[in-house]
Amino acid sequence: MTELVLPNHTNQLGNLLGGQLMHWIDICAAMSAAKHSQRVCVTASVDKIDFHQPHKLGDVVTLNASVNRVFNTSMEVGVKVFGESLKEGKRVHSNSAYLTFVSLDDNEKPVKTFDVIPKSDDEKRRYKEALRRRDTRLKSRKKK
Ligand SMILES: CC(C)(COP(=O)(O)OP(=O)(O)OC[C@H]1O[C@@H](n2cnc3c(N)ncnc32)[C@H](O)[C@@H]1OP(=O)(O)O)[C@@H](O)C(=O)NCCC(=O)NCCS
Repeated sequence: MTELVLPNHTNQLGNLLGGQLMHWIDICAAMSAAKHSQRVCVTASVDKIDFHQPHKLGDVVTLNASVNRVFNTSMEVGVKVFGESLKEGKRVHSNSAYLTFVSLDDNEKPVKTFDVIPKSDDEKRRYKEALRRRDTRLKSRKKK
């Protein structure tokens, strides 16, 4: 997904608002989850997001999403964000985020979705690491 940073996306410094970027991350991940599961998917959780560097007014922001692993009704989606200043023509990785989506049936109840079959080395690594992140999420959920 590609977006152009426009004036209504920015703060007083001309930097992309964090909330706007989080919205794009959520939408990009939601489309990825929905395309994979062919169902409506809702955001169940978003892991911590760090903002390492600003995106400036006029920059192009590209978001790449990947369904890393399906558990049962839920799945982890990873989103990698890149910023590009058109003047400099340099693409910089600015953020990564992990989100959990749940696929819903026609009665809006969680439903099992298709498994992910990792093929490339990167896909296999993400698939393996997603299980570890899920364990951490479930533990922190139990504590609350
Ligand atoms: C997400 C939601 C569908 C889960 O429903 P639920 O009745 O708690 O269902 P369950 O307890 O059976 O959990 C279903 C799955 O969601 C996962 N899940 C639920 N809450 C989670 C959380 N906070 N983080 C990660 N995974 C979560 C469970 O682990 C389970 O996964 P699995 O089937 O792969 O094992 C429900 O809480 C909901 O509708 N939330 C609001 C979603 C929404 O509106 N999102 C937009 C945010 S404003």
